[in-house]
Amino acid sequence: MTRLYFYLDEPGWEIWQPAFEAAIPGVDFRNYPDWGSPDEGPAYLFAWEPELGLVAKYPNIKAIFSLGAGVDHLTRDPSLPKDIPIIRMSDDGLKEGMAEFVLMTVLMHQRYMPRMLAAQCKREWRRLFPPLASDVRIGILGYGALGKYCAQALKPLGYQIAAWSRSGKAAEEGIEHFSGKDQFESFLKRTDILVGLLPSTPETTNLLNRETMALMPRYASIINAGRGSLINLEDLVDLLDSGHLSAATLDVFVEEPLTEDSPLWAHDKIIVTPHIASITRPKTAAEYVANNIKKIEAGMQPENVLDRQRGY
Ligand code: NAP
Ligand code: GLV
Repeated sequence: MTRLYFYLDEPGWEIWQPAFEAAIPGVDFRNYPDWGSPDEGPAYLFAWEPELGLVAKYPNIKAIFSLGAGVDHLTRDPSLPKDIPIIRMSDDGLKEGMAEFVLMTVLMHQRYMPRMLAAQCKREWRRLFPPLASDVRIGILGYGALGKYCAQALKPLGYQIAAWSRSGKAAEEGIEHFSGKDQFESFLKRTDILVGLLPSTPETTNLLNRETMALMPRYASIINAGRGSLINLEDLVDLLDSGHLSAATLDVFVEEPLTEDSPLWAHDKIIVTPHIASITRPKTAAEYVANNIKKIEAGMQPENVLDRQRGY
């Protein structure tokens, strides 16, 4: 019998129980706070943003499954035990959802939709003539599970695609690869629409600031669906106001929810979405967890374990 503790910091846990019952026959699914006593025996945890200090109170937790690909919602807890493996979500639903969001927003930026919407708000008939996809250079920041999937989804539209990652990647048709700090500048200089799909780590924090964003071509634009810590927002707004950058779509923020008084809501070159670029779907996520529990129980290495040194 598999015992699974569940923690979600928002309503909606009811849809998860049947998904786990279908994926793990006989599962003992326990939604927080009804976890019972840690003395009852080993358990797995599936969680999004658990209360600080909670995990440390349950030494019976064998492995933590992050409800998302990111783990900052777990590692923000200084008391989180260092020896429990953390498995990052990377199910098909998450990848497909992100590809849909990236396709939608890249097309919107390419076709000048932020400018058209701003004109509509002012009742202005403003005819703009966007370039064709084949003349637009997309730069994907982060070429992991999501970056790769999104690149494949963008390819058939004919964009000129490049990706930047930490480690070098083997040559690939239709994708130009850049890696490491040395190649960051060349990557930015050739990017018209930048798509942020990086995890939040000390190295990726503030990576997009006044100096780096100024390297992008005039009228370039930014889509951030990774983590908010990537961008210095004050610098971004200055570069949008000066006309150097043309638009930004922001899905993620350091402080979420974005406060009502944030000037970002009303900025006519910014589209705000409330961290919905890709949602973890119960069916595919429960199957992903079930497969990894099987691996752990068989003494094998589960997929996508957080490397605490790298931070992702
Ligand atoms: P992943 O498979 O671990 O890929 C991460 C990518 O980032 C890798 O290509 C990695 O390079 C690169 N990277 C990390 N640190 C770097 C650095 N310092 N310099 C250059 N490249 C760096 O992660 P994923 O599954 O694609 O997810 C990416 C992130 O998306 C998650 O961490 C999460 O924060 C975010 N996310 C957001 C949403 C949303 O709804 N907004 C949904 C899901 C995920 P290497 O390939 O060299 O290792
Ligand atoms: C969502 O933000 C995730 O990390 O999956």
